[in-house]
Amino acid sequence: MGFSECIQMAVDGSLVGAEIDWKVLRNKAVEAAARAYAPYSGFPVGAAAIVDDDRLIVGCNVENVSYGLGLCAECAVVCALYSGGGGRLVALSCVAADGAPLMPCGRCRQVLLEHGGPGLLIDHPDGPKLLADLLPDAFGPADLERA
Ligand code: THU
Repeated sequence: MGFSECIQMAVDGSLVGAEIDWKVLRNKAVEAAARAYAPYSGFPVGAAAIVDDDRLIVGCNVENVSYGLGLCAECAVVCALYSGGGGRLVALSCVAADGAPLMPCGRCRQVLLEHGGPGLLIDHPDGPKLLADLLPDAFGPADLERA
């Protein structure tokens, strides 16, 4: 499924949050969660994201017997982003096995910020939230200038 099936372009061709079909995105995340490898936590997670070039990409958590090496579903999405050609994340839905939106963990918020910026929209039961609101006062490239 492509971007065009998930969102409708605004009249002027720009993308706005209201155009994103969150139901489709969440369903794709649920499908991805079913493919998770989570034998240690028993907590499958799926994520689906819209990219700014028409792609819909997905990821799931992949755990490891050395627990700390487990990969979150959102990190898998970022790998899929670059494996498929790069680009910027526009909207992301992350779900647990019950299909309800799951807020990305703190580490994943920072990872998502790198590839979607503060304007990335994150699925939430109360309606989409800006990543900027989920990760206020984030560490960013400007901080590196202090050195
Ligand atoms: N997990 C994710 O995939 N994303 C999150 O944002 C939170 C946690 C995974 C990691 C681990 O495999 C399982 O959920 C339990 O923590």
